[in-house]
Amino acid sequence: MQKTILITGSTDGIGLETARMLLAQGHHVLLHGRSLEKVQNTENTLLGEEKCRGKITPHVADLSNMADVEALTKMVIANHDQIDVLINNAGVFKAATTITIDGLDLRFAVNTIAPFLLTQRLLPLFCEAGRVINLSSAAQSPVDLDALLGKKIIAEDFAAYAQSKLAIASWSRIFAERYPELLVFAVNPGSLLGSKMVKDNFGIAGSDISIGARVVSRLACGEGDEAFSGEYFDNDIGRFSQPHPDGLDSEKNQALVKAIENKLAQLGL
Ligand SMILES: NC(=O)c1ccc[n+]([C@@H]2O[C@H](COP(=O)([O-])OP(=O)(O)OC[C@H]3O[C@@H](n4cnc5c(N)ncnc54)[C@H](OP(=O)(O)O)[C@@H]3O)[C@@H](O)[C@H]2O)c1
Repeated sequence: MQKTILITGSTDGIGLETARMLLAQGHHVLLHGRSLEKVQNTENTLLGEEKCRGKITPHVADLSNMADVEALTKMVIANHDQIDVLINNAGVFKAATTITIDGLDLRFAVNTIAPFLLTQRLLPLFCEAGRVINLSSAAQSPVDLDALLGKKIIAEDFAAYAQSKLAIASWSRIFAERYPELLVFAVNPGSLLGSKMVKDNFGIAGSDISIGARVVSRLACGEGDEAFSGEYFDNDIGRFSQPHPDGLDSEKNQALVKAIENKLAQLGL
């Protein structure tokens, strides 16, 4: 059965490879990127590939800007009656400017808060047993809520990234509890897969990105993972596993979700 699947950051890396795999299975992919030109070029490339059996609808939004995230949700709701899967894949490690227009750290904005807002807004659109796949990482460290809220600057890129990636695993657990009709998974797609992020930031070629795309596609459309909603799949070991211990602390997870909700309310969202 053809599924409708929104993949954020599907103009490059693991997101692009996942789009390619899901299109080969005949699904309808909502291709997303922050650059219109890159989205159009990617759409043309994918549609021109022999294995493509699915359909593409393009969407453009800069996920570092919460007003743009909100506009994306409105566009998706206006153009689609239902979605089966949301893959919150877009992510950032380092950039020249790390404070966003909303006064947030870029990593928390793109990697944690934008996917939270997107998921929340798209809830009415999910079909029965809809799925949310949240890209986390093996890099996880305890979240400083002041940093998450932009009240404190994190000097080190790796520290900001690792906090943002535990934060997305944390709210995944809460969403799975709150919305039992949904399946919500956090996933480390595999460490040091050879995407632009890894090449630019670690200076290495990295491993085959299809390792990550395969696990993301499986969690998105496969069978057998239904009992694990809210859990963290660690593709370095090929199974569901424990995130950083803070991610299992219900009080901390609740506080994190409350902080994100308060921040979004402050931003008028
Ligand atoms: N590669 C790994 O080993 C690895 C390991 C663990 C977790 N992950 C996670 O996997 C996900 C995919 O990463 P990747 O390795 O494939 O990296 P990538 O090649 O750099 O892809 C990241 C994607 O996110 C998009 N993006 C970044 N900032 C954005 C913004 N402000 N608004 C909208 N889109 C934005 C990028 O858009 P552009 O195309 O415009 O740049 C790109 O399509 C990320 O969440 C990453 O943290 C990766």
